[in-house]
Amino acid sequence: MKLKQSDPQVFKIIKKEERRQQSKLSMIPSENFFSIAVREAVGSVFMHKYAEGNINARYYEGNQHVDELESLAINRIKKLFKLPGDWDVNVQALAGSNANLSVYLAVLSPGDTMMGMYLPDGGHLSHGWSYDTDKKPDPDNPVYLGGKKKVNITSKIFKTVQYKTNPETQVFDYKEIEKIANKYKPNLIITGGTAYPREIDYKRMKTIAKKVGALYMADIAHEAGLIAAGVNRSPVGIADIVTMTTHKTLRSGRGAIILAHKDIIKKINRAVLPGLQGGPFNNNIAGITVGIGEALKPSFKMYAKQVVKNAKYMAGELKKYGFELVSGGTDKHLILINLTGKGIFGKYLARALDIAGIVANMNTIPGEQRSPADPSGLRLGTPTLTTRGMKEKEMKIIAGWIAEVTEIAKKYTQLDFEKFQQKVKNDGRIKEICRGVISLCRHFPFKD
Ligand SMILES: Cc1ncc(COP(=O)(O)O)c(C=O)c1O
Repeated sequence: MKLKQSDPQVFKIIKKEERRQQSKLSMIPSENFFSIAVREAVGSVFMHKYAEGNINARYYEGNQHVDELESLAINRIKKLFKLPGDWDVNVQALAGSNANLSVYLAVLSPGDTMMGMYLPDGGHLSHGWSYDTDKKPDPDNPVYLGGKKKVNITSKIFKTVQYKTNPETQVFDYKEIEKIANKYKPNLIITGGTAYPREIDYKRMKTIAKKVGALYMADIAHEAGLIAAGVNRSPVGIADIVTMTTHKTLRSGRGAIILAHKDIIKKINRAVLPGLQGGPFNNNIAGITVGIGEALKPSFKMYAKQVVKNAKYMAGELKKYGFELVSGGTDKHLILINLTGKGIFGKYLARALDIAGIVANMNTIPGEQRSPADPSGLRLGTPTLTTRGMKEKEMKIIAGWIAEVTEIAKKYTQLDFEKFQQKVKNDGRIKEICRGVISLCRHFPFKD
């Protein structure tokens, strides 16, 4: 029986979400729309099968086709990321955080030191985050050694050292990173983040890691698609290990990929199973295989180029409206706005934009002094808009709407959050923008 008949309640919720996605502009940089082919593969019978183990070495029978699928995935990934002959792939980690944990389990021991980017400056939770509730962060200290609240398991198991971006330029300060690495002698150095709009010098980072005897892991969760398309530079063959998610710019359904030298991948495979997970989500691997197949086509290169063009164009437009951008702009698919001095902060602005039909997220900014639940920044991205077929002309319109919503919403920031939302909802111009968004979305529906 089809879902509509068997469970109308869930069917209705899914339809509502489908309408929301079709009629709003998703500007969350970690999201994307996947092709119908990817979704068909994810919804396939592969979800029924248990396949603990690796190709030709499974713990259960009946995995002939799972093996065939996973081999195809790995071959396509090798081709897409131009893997050196002595590198290999793991495609079983269930998500980006799990992929990172698998690497740590494979190459570190409890009590070892990991060094990653400070989370408020754009780093990720899974790179060793912890904090203090009773102490304000010290913006003058270029290094952060963690707090008492060990919110991520990585900070419970390992010693963590976090480097910050340069307070003036808000980009990596390689000299400072080298000094920190020299002082703390980490076992693993990590780059990559959720809100870092600039490219990373992977060669420089590898040199630093080598000098201090550390392994170097590049987490390219966000920019994987841009790297695959050759639009951003690649750490493959430079870093010791590369991890990524498949569901952001790579547009291949949910999951993760780990790339490394064959000897390291062997350890990572053991960390994934039996270390951390049970059976892989074969249906997600089917989606990833289809998505990577799409990424190998010339049209994906065009897509990735346009993602960056759109982000750069929108960054320029936002600057014309007086928005201050972290690092002054972007090299990628994401833009981070510093709202300090704008009369409104991330929580209120993100909600006002959502009411107007533009879905973004509040975000911390470098040197953040406010809380992550009500931070000073707003993060925007162009992957989904570009998947819909939007180009510079539409970025201009959307940037104008963002500026207008900001001006309207900041009049109401003295109100509590409930009353603020009511005021924004009832504002005549916000209603007009909302209609404009719906009309724009109709012109650029999500299609296969
Ligand atoms: C840099 C980075 N690493 C890891 C992850 C974790 O990915 P997941 O949400 O799939 O666990 C993210 C997610 O946003 C990320 O940005």
